[in-house]
Amino acid sequence: MAEEMTPKVNMETIVSLCKRRGFVFQSSELYGGQASCWDYGPLGVELKRNIRDAWWRSVVQERDDMVGIDASILMHPQVWEASGHLQGFTDPLTECKGCHRRWRADEAKDGRCPSCGGELTEPRMFNLLFKTFMGPVEDSASTVYLRPETAQGIFVNFENVLATSRKKLPFGIAQIGKSFRNEITPGNFIFRSREFEQMEIEYFVKPGTDEQWFRYWLEERFNWYVNLGIKRQNLRLREHMHHELAHYAKCCYDIEYLFPMGWSELEGIANRGDYDLSRHSQFSGRSLTYFDEESGQHITPYVIEPSAGVDRSLLAFLLDAYDEEPDKEGIRVVLRFHPTLAPVKVAVLPLSRNPRLQPLAREVYNRLRRCWLVQYDDAQSIGRRYRRQDEIGTPLAVTIDFQSLEDNQVTIRDRDTMKQIRVPLGVLEETLERKLAGEPLEVLPPGGSYWLGWGE
Ligand code: GAP
Repeated sequence: MAEEMTPKVNMETIVSLCKRRGFVFQSSELYGGQASCWDYGPLGVELKRNIRDAWWRSVVQERDDMVGIDASILMHPQVWEASGHLQGFTDPLTECKGCHRRWRADEAKDGRCPSCGGELTEPRMFNLLFKTFMGPVEDSASTVYLRPETAQGIFVNFENVLATSRKKLPFGIAQIGKSFRNEITPGNFIFRSREFEQMEIEYFVKPGTDEQWFRYWLEERFNWYVNLGIKRQNLRLREHMHHELAHYAKCCYDIEYLFPMGWSELEGIANRGDYDLSRHSQFSGRSLTYFDEESGQHITPYVIEPSAGVDRSLLAFLLDAYDEEPDKEGIRVVLRFHPTLAPVKVAVLPLSRNPRLQPLAREVYNRLRRCWLVQYDDAQSIGRRYRRQDEIGTPLAVTIDFQSLEDNQVTIRDRDTMKQIRVPLGVLEETLERKLAGEPLEVLPPGGSYWLGWGE
């Protein structure tokens, strides 16, 4: 592997940071842990929310041709018959005759068990749908499924959304929500789990324009990751080979990220043709078509589907942000999150616990938390506190010292450059806002601030 193709950080480092600082915990750890399920802690939940919000803003809020929905997880069982999941949502499963571990057939090494090298059984198709029962009777009539993708909630609402939003082709419907798959081999931390969250778009277009829209969405979605700070060299596009295509897809590309275990799917972008709307028309007996005023005909739109994972994106953003550099105390660990994603935007740090500093520091804290998620920290030395904030990716810290009591000025310290400036309290929010929006700290706010040069 060429040097630039080597992931910078291994998974163990990230897993340990996530646990230590409260991003992600093993589910039900108290009882020994529930395999392949994860809980998001106080910082993880903020990071996740920021990822969802950035996605929603980019694909719904800032566009004229998109609307959102939030469909239920449990749907009519016929949805999964029509969608093809009851029949076709399978992976080939094989079992080791020696150690009895189960594998997806494509994970077998030279046809042998990847764990003990034992002989494997012939693969059989294993359906990944989670089943449960609705209501008080547990029989086949009450069987329902946990959705394996959010997409179907969009297709079955196509008519409702079309009627109520009066959108014209091309237009899209976006949804964020939990999905469930009984994966044969979950793993690699939150990369593949059995309960996860998706951010999906179904973009409806006129047949014949689908390839052009497919290319458009490839570029759009690739750039979304880059604009939120993922290094371009850690991303690539890969076209699915014919045998990899899902049962509904005409064509599919993955946006791949260079995870510690190698290049792996971050988001899939598929051309689903008219498969889903046609199948739901057929199974429901309702015509899911669109009246095209131009041709005077009813048409079944084609669908372009960019489908991203919240958890997988979160993992990629964490890995990509992770950085280490030597400093006088050893190693400074920094999460260089894009400010939009950083769980905590600003830390308020009185220079010491001296009671004279507290009232002003508290006042600044109360002011800033109206605008952002802010942390107040007065425990241990200021250097230690800067390091703690660096390790969770807080872009800016505001320090209140004894001089602040005299001149009503505070120090802003930048996570990435460690540069510091002194600003009057009157322009604090405005300066922080501009800095969080990406302006360099060198840009002086009106009212005047002055350089302190390099900090610490
Ligand atoms: N509706 C299309 C669809 O679900 P997919 O490629 O199976 O396509 C889309 O899934 C995205 O959902 C993936 O790129 C990934 O980010 C996320 N995803 C899928 N299975 C996952 C799992 N078991 N754990 C975590 N994320 C998963």
